[in-house]
Amino acid sequence: MTMIGLTVNAQPVKASVEPRTHLADFLRDNLDLTGTHLGCEHGVCGACTLLVDDMPARSCITCAVACDGARVTTIEGLDDDEITAELRAAFTREHALQCGYCTPGMLISARDLVLRLPEPDERSVRAGLSGNLCRCTGYVGIVRAVRSVIDQRRKRGIAPVAGGGRQALGPVGSGNAATAATADLAATPAAKAETADQMSGANAIPDFTPAKVFSDRFTVPYPPDKVFDMLGNVRQVAACLPGASLTGEPAPERVEGAIRVKLGPISADFRGAARIERDLEKLSGRIVGMGSDQRSRSSTQGEIRYHLVPTEQGTATRVELSIGYSLKGMLAQIAREGLVRDLAARLTADFARNLDRHLAGDRLTGATEGPQSLNGVSLLIEVLRTRVLKAIRQLWE
Ligand code: FES
Ligand code: FES
Repeated sequence: MTMIGLTVNAQPVKASVEPRTHLADFLRDNLDLTGTHLGCEHGVCGACTLLVDDMPARSCITCAVACDGARVTTIEGLDDDEITAELRAAFTREHALQCGYCTPGMLISARDLVLRLPEPDERSVRAGLSGNLCRCTGYVGIVRAVRSVIDQRRKRGIAPVAGGGRQALGPVGSGNAATAATADLAATPAAKAETADQMSGANAIPDFTPAKVFSDRFTVPYPPDKVFDMLGNVRQVAACLPGASLTGEPAPERVEGAIRVKLGPISADFRGAARIERDLEKLSGRIVGMGSDQRSRSSTQGEIRYHLVPTEQGTATRVELSIGYSLKGMLAQIAREGLVRDLAARLTADFARNLDRHLAGDRLTGATEGPQSLNGVSLLIEVLRTRVLKAIRQLWE
């Protein structure tokens, strides 16, 4: 994952993205700016056109990381734009849209022509819109609408703007942008230190707001201080977690690793890193991690908070968990919240059982001997079995 910072519709945005995430996916999935449409995803149809540093660009073939430091304007950012308002009115008047799928990209390309063309020459308008395909209209209404806006503006004495107002090639074109992390954060020495800290070491794992959060708990028959010590040993914790393995030398505050999961037809091997925080006084801790799987093109950020509560006069410990996560990519499409919750419950139960065995002195293997798959098929069957039983019980209640 790479930290980037850009301006989207005049708002500063900072995010951690996979290097190959398209700008269109980033805008739609991370910022909910769904006005940018995706058609061919190969740079052919123009449905995804938006402005990068005031220049029309295909967001399906532009990587989000390449826009670090850039100014991005989507169709939502042109709500109050005078030319776009005139184009919208003309599109309505000239019946220049039917399904509307091509329209956001078409409006952005048309706006650029209205800015640049000295006169409403049909040939130039058609050539200028040749990178935007429309399956519905046959283009006649679109060309008429764009020409009419150019015509009216020139008649009102509004001159064309050379180059459509572009002053210089922006970061995407020049590759010379200040990066997100250095652009506005570089203002103060404290901010610089924070930036350096963010890009290396434990703080390279950013905080995030989980899309889903749920809680779980289990009890082990050992005192809290013993359980807390055990949870501080990264190797032992990983050994208790089915499918987990370490990929680097763990430090008390940071760990790099992988977890392998098979779920139905999809096998995912998430690799990533996590930041570990612990509070001995409160007998609590937090693990914040992020990882991605190349094969399923999925990425996740997750957070586990735990709190140890003494029970049975301090001879046993209840481990209270809060688990939060955000999932993107192919797995997010099949991993509905209830399913993830049930799988996490099963994972927690396995972890609790292994923890119990480990505290009892059994040697567990796994973390140091390569990843074992979390058996998604049996896990899935178990989850489905539980769900069916639950549904039957509800029928009789
Ligand atoms: S979706 Fe980008 S050009 Fe077709
Ligand atoms: S209006 Fe349907 S694709 Fe253009």
